[in-house]
Amino acid sequence: MKITVVGTGYVGLVTGACLAEYGNDVVCLDLDQRKIDMLRAGGIPIFEPGLDDIVARNVQAGRLRFTTDINESVAHGTVQFIAVGTPPDEDGSADLQYVLAAACSIGRAMTEYKVIVDKSTVPVGTADKVKAAVAEELAKRGEKIEFSVASNPEFLKEGAAIEDFMRPDRIVVGAEDDRAIRIMRTIYQPFQRNHERMLVMDIRSAELTKYAANAMLATRISFMNELANLAEKLGADIELVRKGIGSDPRIGYSFLYPGAGYGGSCFPKDVKALCKTANEYDMTLKVLEAVEDVNDAQKSLLVKKVTQRFGEDLKGRHFAIWGLAFKPKTDDMREAPSLVVIDGLLARGATVSAFDPVAMHEAQRILGDKVVYGKTLMDVLDNADALLIVTEWKEFQVPDFAGIKARLKQPLVIDGRNLFDPALVRDNGFEYDAIGRL
Ligand SMILES: NC(=O)c1ccc[n+]([C@@H]2O[C@H](COP(=O)([O-])OP(=O)(O)OC[C@H]3O[C@@H](n4cnc5c(N)ncnc54)[C@H](O)[C@@H]3O)[C@@H](O)[C@H]2O)c1
Repeated sequence: MKITVVGTGYVGLVTGACLAEYGNDVVCLDLDQRKIDMLRAGGIPIFEPGLDDIVARNVQAGRLRFTTDINESVAHGTVQFIAVGTPPDEDGSADLQYVLAAACSIGRAMTEYKVIVDKSTVPVGTADKVKAAVAEELAKRGEKIEFSVASNPEFLKEGAAIEDFMRPDRIVVGAEDDRAIRIMRTIYQPFQRNHERMLVMDIRSAELTKYAANAMLATRISFMNELANLAEKLGADIELVRKGIGSDPRIGYSFLYPGAGYGGSCFPKDVKALCKTANEYDMTLKVLEAVEDVNDAQKSLLVKKVTQRFGEDLKGRHFAIWGLAFKPKTDDMREAPSLVVIDGLLARGATVSAFDPVAMHEAQRILGDKVVYGKTLMDVLDNADALLIVTEWKEFQVPDFAGIKARLKQPLVIDGRNLFDPALVRDNGFEYDAIGRL
């Protein structure tokens, strides 16, 4: 199948590479010339485990190409996946300018039947807007060319994107005509040899499914964060509570970890956008608005713990931070809690040194020289008043406590991800403050 993927970011590049892996002939379009130049030169613009191999293999086999030429990309794919960004607008709603620009360029250049697939996370009703945009461009040209619009939201997780795409729990397809459904079934047939995973539904339900999934996961996190804060006041251990409720199969263990708040390119903006959609229909999603409020407060919790310990004025204090990415196994720092923590410390006059296994370049791009960057996790510790842990990277989980103690000015660990057994850290001579733990 000839496939075009519009937008070569986390979702588009993974989609293009994985579809090429199953033998499809894929062209990935991006307007960012630098990104395309880098991909053509064999580089990968993002950190995503396993992505470099799969891209290289498929480029080598001639099944995966990269372009900035819209005419070429529109002419190529019978299926045109739109996987461009949908960042939050000023009012929190999803900004559809990139999706609609992609739709218009398809309408302007298409000469034969296309299935235009919204893979970006888009509010309910976007497929109608995409359809109207394409129809308008065709009308301007005086052309009557058939096309279908489908919704195929993406559920991959950064850090496990290849695995998620190759072995999806479900493939949600919203479509209203048989031709588009048949084509979507053909594309996804190799991904569901073991058992049927494709859920075909109407377009609006598919669009809402994606928001509902992220809203539910964000809700679990904020729920646990709020309970963790209560546990601290009550003298209970949230880690024991987590196990106590996670063992109930109706609840399960996933997404029950309290911490320094959720970030990333999806949960914050998708929760906001869903609340905004509800407002447009004269509804308030009270649960989700609270989820967002709790998360905003949680992102500042580590700073609050620091000020409770050292006072509001942090001049002359220095802090070491482990973890900058919004979660492990990615270099993505969009809406990362680390940014709130760093801002809060700097605003109070402290200095900060930071280490992340893969997000250092991204951090330098965003933060410049506001912080000192360590080459290793140990060399950020020298003379710090405390170590703050913000991302739960595996390599932080069994640290050299004696080495840490020798480097810190005082043995204080403030752990925003509950990585350690408190008794073990304290036995090693540390003061240990985590989230909702005894
Ligand atoms: N990142 C994730 O984990 C994830 C998971 C599921 C869904 N999503 C959704 O997928 C969408 C894409 O997210 P992402 O993280 O891959 O974004 P991204 O910012 O990494 O990539 C988007 C790319 O689209 C390009 N682009 C913008 N307009 C274009 C146009 N008209 N033509 C061609 N290219 C264009 C940009 O240059 C950029 O490279 C968003 O709606 C997001 O909510 C993301």
